[in-house]
Amino acid sequence: MPTKFPSPAPATFEIHVVPDASALAEAGALEFTRAAKDAFEGRGIFHVVLAGGSTPRALYARLTRPPFRGSIRWDRVRFFFGDERCVPPDHERSNYRMAREALFDPLQIPAARVLRMKGEADPIRAARDYEAAIRRRFAGHRARFDFILLGLGEDGHTASLFPSTAALSERRRLAAANEVPKFSEWRLTLTFRALNAARRVVFLVSGPEKASAAAKILKKQRGYADLPAAGVAPSRGTLLWLLDEAAASKL
Ligand code: 6PG
Repeated sequence: MPTKFPSPAPATFEIHVVPDASALAEAGALEFTRAAKDAFEGRGIFHVVLAGGSTPRALYARLTRPPFRGSIRWDRVRFFFGDERCVPPDHERSNYRMAREALFDPLQIPAARVLRMKGEADPIRAARDYEAAIRRRFAGHRARFDFILLGLGEDGHTASLFPSTAALSERRRLAAANEVPKFSEWRLTLTFRALNAARRVVFLVSGPEKASAAAKILKKQRGYADLPAAGVAPSRGTLLWLLDEAAASKL
């Protein structure tokens, strides 16, 4: 029986459709920059969670070019990950490697400002260690990320919260090791508790292959609640679905 999960209504919910993948990267970079400026003004630091997969690469690369490169106090940004494959950090499937190549290296972001999920370690231990590091980072306050970037899988997964997997039911922890039978592998992922505590969550969705899952969730079509991405609704935050026209073609 698929897991049903609460999808509390976010404080505000928006859908923004742009023409193509290039416009999506531009719009995503703008959202990132706005959230960073809000965080700098409010708290002096910007805690951001990066998405993996392939879609965000263009957004990360766009941030390394003007005007975004020069408009963000990169020394005041702390990077986290929404999920990671259980592979070493230099593996071609590593989300960390993708972000390092597209963002950290071009901006010369020191390792100390990046909290990497250790895909090379035992998954259970790596998840516990990541959770502990997040809690240390927020030093006794509730772990509340300023900005969480997420992708959408064709099956409605987000981060590494896949349909009918155990991590969907995790209510206490912020990070979890999640066995994903469809790939016969383990993944590391933030949980709904971490995602739905965020100030702002932005889904970045590109391509016709995502159109069915996006429409099912955003139009609340039959069975939408079984798709993990439908469970992301920051209860005290804002939610933006940013799609290109191909991904929005069934809305
Ligand atoms: C991952 C991601 C995952 C991704 C979606 C979309 O590790 O794969 O975090 O949740 O965001 O699968 O991936 P694409 O952007 O490659 O389509």
